[in-house]
Amino acid sequence: MKNIEIKIAGKPISAQPGETIVHALWAVGMAESVQTGCAGGVCGACTVTVRYADGKPGGTELACMKPVEEGMEVFPCPVEPDKAVEPVINPDALTLQSVFPTVNRCTKCGSCTTACPMSIPVMDSVMRMQQGDFDAVAEDFTTCIHCGLCRFVCEDKVKPHNMGLWVRRSLGKSQPELQMADEDLNLIEKEWQHLMTDDKQERIQRAKTFREKGSQ
Ligand code: SF4
Ligand code: SF4
Ligand code: FES
Repeated sequence: MKNIEIKIAGKPISAQPGETIVHALWAVGMAESVQTGCAGGVCGACTVTVRYADGKPGGTELACMKPVEEGMEVFPCPVEPDKAVEPVINPDALTLQSVFPTVNRCTKCGSCTTACPMSIPVMDSVMRMQQGDFDAVAEDFTTCIHCGLCRFVCEDKVKPHNMGLWVRRSLGKSQPELQMADEDLNLIEKEWQHLMTDDKQERIQRAKTFREKGSQ
């Protein structure tokens, strides 16, 4: 089948019809142009925006799932990681406001909902966060892949998905059967510190050993 041409951040590359954007990049040695994690539409690492040559509306896509199209232009959206906020037991609206003061900055522009590749009603969920309707928020964010695009597009720096994740984790932590004894938490912390060593090769080796042995 005849190859087609697509552009990655303005650079033309040749691609095979039917393959995904990520596979097209791998084939031409440009794997690092777009971040990847799962390569299966789950993790959100490969989020990009696309524009089409025929003028049909573009938008956000997962590059590991999106098939290439003639003349398609692809723009990587690197979203900086953000520091995790510790979840709490029995969260309420006031606690959320104290750890995420950004929740009240929302101007209801709707950009986050438009950007979300998982069709999550992000803006409505931010309203629910303000009201403390956390069961509904947890439901809203069930399919969130943490691509970070809702944070990326938010002019008011509201951080919707960080808050959604915090709500889900806090509700989980509030389940009595999931509350862990201090010694178990200490062991987990110790194992985590062991695995998160700064040296990349050493980190990979430790993770491999841990997976094989089930302990350090
Ligand atoms: S993009 Fe930001 S300001 Fe706009 S609706 Fe979403 S959270 Fe609110
Ligand atoms: S809610 Fe935000 S982080 Fe989650 S999938 Fe949608 S855009 Fe990505
Ligand atoms: S690499 Fe995980 S969603 Fe694409």
